[in-house]
Formats: sequence, C-alpha cells, structure tokens
Amino acid sequence: MTTPLLVDVFAGDRATALATALGAELLPLERRRFPDGESLVRIAADVAGRDVVLAAALDDPDPKLMTLILAADALRELGAARVLLATPYLPYMRQDARFVPGEAVAARSFARLISAYVDAVATVDPHLHRIHALSQVFSVPARVAHAAPAMAAWIAEHIADPVIVGPDEESEQWVADVAARIQAPHTVFIKTRHGDHSVTLVPRDAERLSGRTPVIVDDIVSTARTMAAAVEALRAQGYAPPWCLGVHALFVGDAWAVLSAAGPAGIVTCDTVAHPSNAIAVMPALAAAVHELLALPPCAA
Ligand code: R5P
Repeated sequence: MTTPLLVDVFAGDRATALATALGAELLPLERRRFPDGESLVRIAADVAGRDVVLAAALDDPDPKLMTLILAADALRELGAARVLLATPYLPYMRQDARFVPGEAVAARSFARLISAYVDAVATVDPHLHRIHALSQVFSVPARVAHAAPAMAAWIAEHIADPVIVGPDEESEQWVADVAARIQAPHTVFIKTRHGDHSVTLVPRDAERLSGRTPVIVDDIVSTARTMAAAVEALRAQGYAPPWCLGVHALFVGDAWAVLSAAGPAGIVTCDTVAHPSNAIAVMPALAAAVHELLALPPCAA
C-alpha cells in the first residue's frame, strides 16, 4: 500500500490528527468563493494513481457539501486510485424516515449523493436508529468507529461509582456499551419530543441511580434540550449533579447556555466536532476505520 494522501476539507486539527494516525501526507484543499457565492476548489498535488482520503468536517453540512463534492469529483478526474471520505460526524442521519407525508428522507438522499462521488466512507458513531447499518443506505463500503471505548476510559479515570444514563431509548446502544466496559450499571429515560426545542423525559429503572454519580451519555448534542431535560429530571429527583458526555458536540444556538444553566457537574465531548468541551480523542479510532478501508482490495473500495 503506498502512502495515502489526506486532503483537509474544513477538518483542521482533526485532519492533522487523522493524517498523523494514518501516516498519510496532509494536503490543504485550496478553495475560495466567487463573488456570486459559487465555490472553487483546487487539488495542488499530483494524485494520479494514489489513494486519497478526504478528511471532511460535515457538521452544519449544507455550506460544506458542494466543496466536498467538487473536491471528490476533481480527484477522480485527476486520476486518484480511490477517493475515501473520512468524516468524524455524519450528518442527516436523524431524518431516517418520512415522519410527515411528503417529507424527504434525508438519510437516504444524503447517502445516495455521497455514494456517487466517493469509493468508501468512514465515520464515528453515526445516528443509526430506524436505519440499522450504513450499508442499508450507502452503496459503497462503510466503516464505523466507536467512541464508547474512549468515553468509558474517560469515565473510569475521572468519575467514582458512576451510573451511565441514556436520555432516551435510542441511546441504550451506546449507554449499555460504555457501562459494560467499566462494569457500571446503566438506565435510560423514555423521551417524548414535542418539537425541535422541547422534550419531556420519564425515568426507567430509577433505583439503579441511588448512591452513584449519574453520567448522561448521548451521541448528538444539538439544541441540548435532551441533555438539559435529563439533568433537570435527575436533579429534581435529588440525585447528584450529573456529568454530561456527548459524542458529537453540535451545540447549536443557545444550546451551551441552556445545558450549563441546567446545572450539570460538567460537560465533556469527543473531538468529532470542534468545540471547547472536547476532551475525549477519537481520531485514532476513525483512523483505524479508514485503515480497514484502505486495506480492502481496490475494486471493493
Ligand atoms: C436523538 O435521537 C439523539 O440521540 C439525540 O438525543 C438528539 O439528537 C439530541 O438533540 P437535542 O440536543 O436537540 O435535544
């Protein structure tokens, strides 16, 4: 396998970390906007015959997607052997069904678009709920890196007698995994979402919480209403102030202020989306997933 080239598409420090972990040559993507808002990209390297990894940050995806597509298409036209997408956060996965008649199922549309332009995809803990595996929507090989080992290690190092709490039933997959790795109990809330900024939570198995420090674990913190409601519910029932651990720190709008005001013991996230709360490194895990894809026979990825 020759040394891959890794092109930085809005990923910054995460691209550098990935390139280091992969032993790849790092290339910044030359890009600019024309006065009319259209994008120009340039690949300033000879990519003919090389495997190229696009390390792309895709939180707040819409302003970034056209740049990614132009870069991927240019790489193919310039003769790259394979073009792989490594995105620490895979967007659009929560709209995985037509909840209201006529809505687009964005997870499927997004996956079809990406599959047309790259040969393989690697990401960290995509939001898989009604879609159970990336292979159901991506037509190219995909690999998932998991944040659970790094989150469990962080909890073991920093929190005594934890109980891992999921804010909704969807989170049980991550919560159970994290808890099992450190022999801690876990429980989940039952969540009802009333709108983008409104959720209510009802506890399940609350007896597992007594005498322990609650650690709320979720995949995405977007408006933070889910995390904040979980903190408020735990505090209202007299439990110790909980820690909040998230994988993908989107923190849109007033999310940080709302969650801080709920009174958690602390807020810690993985480094998939750049944010001051990043304290858990998962780029080595993503690099391992990319490495698996690079090891596939050329026709498979
Ligand atoms: C939803 O099912 C996810 O796992 C998260 O719980 C959700 O995306 C969090 O959203 P928000 O921060 O807007 O409440």
